[in-house]
Amino acid sequence: MEAEAFASRYGPWALIAGASEGTGASFARQLAEAGLDLILVARRQAPLDQLADELRARHGVEVVTATIDLAAEDATARLVEAAGHREVGLLILNAGADPNGSMFLDNAIANWDALATRNVMTTMRALHAFGAPMRERGRGGMIVVGSGACYAGLPGIGVYAASKAFDLVLCEALWAELEPHGVDVLSYVIGRTDTPAHRELMEARGMAIPDNLADPDDVARLGLERLPHGPVCNWGEADDEAVVSATSAAQRRERIRAVAAMSAAYAAKG
Ligand SMILES: NC(=O)c1ccc[n+]([C@@H]2O[C@H](COP(=O)([O-])OP(=O)(O)OC[C@H]3O[C@@H](n4cnc5c(N)ncnc54)[C@H](OP(=O)(O)O)[C@@H]3O)[C@@H](O)[C@H]2O)c1
Repeated sequence: MEAEAFASRYGPWALIAGASEGTGASFARQLAEAGLDLILVARRQAPLDQLADELRARHGVEVVTATIDLAAEDATARLVEAAGHREVGLLILNAGADPNGSMFLDNAIANWDALATRNVMTTMRALHAFGAPMRERGRGGMIVVGSGACYAGLPGIGVYAASKAFDLVLCEALWAELEPHGVDVLSYVIGRTDTPAHRELMEARGMAIPDNLADPDDVARLGLERLPHGPVCNWGEADDEAVVSATSAAQRRERIRAVAAMSAAYAAKG
């Protein structure tokens, strides 16, 4: 999509939660290039400031930063507060990796609570808070960055995989609900990507860094391209392919379309 068309469909402001590095920073750079103003969120102020300065200088866009812990109970209220009066036409929920790297019973439940709060509760609440005004306006987009882990319960990443499965299914439902209102929703299921967080985890575990990690800029570019073609994009797979995913994006889309009318009958308005 041309930058101008993109900006009028998803602008004027984009909010990126988890924007300070990796794929989040790549999304920010590409959106600034397309002319969108940005609200950048992460826990550390310094990298946000650095990125904000770079984007203002290079692209002349407005950039606001906010340090918010997305694992905190009040995270969504703080996101809404950070957005203030600004019209957020694009929401990208990028933060979501598992910093724990352990079997379920070998880690404190408080750490799993934090992961689930960030990936499940804050994701759900933010989609609700920012999706409502988009539906009202009849335009907008929401991307939730997921993981191939969403397709199976795997040892060592159980809570992470389960949280990504929740996000996938919620995005699919919202895609079907909001499509008639001009709002695009994408569960962007990515694979191993060369981000600082992923490198840190591998280094901490003494794992070799493979040379085939995806480039975060490539990952962000494809996510923005596929936003109008939800509900799912599986990184590394064509729309009709199922390699790592259990089912192709096209199969999932068709199934939702096939059963949407029946499931919608359960939705009482009110
Ligand atoms: N990298 C991979 O190989 C890979 C593979 C599959 C899926 N993914 C998905 O891709 C997304 C990005 O992953 P990533 O590897 O870049 O790691 P990440 O830990 O999700 O970090 C990405 C960004 O999120 C911020 N962040 C993390 N936790 C936060 C919190 N509690 N509150 C606010 N901001 C937070 C980080 O900045 P601060 O530290 O400053 O907060 C950083 O800017 C995640 O959803 C992940 O599940 C990644």
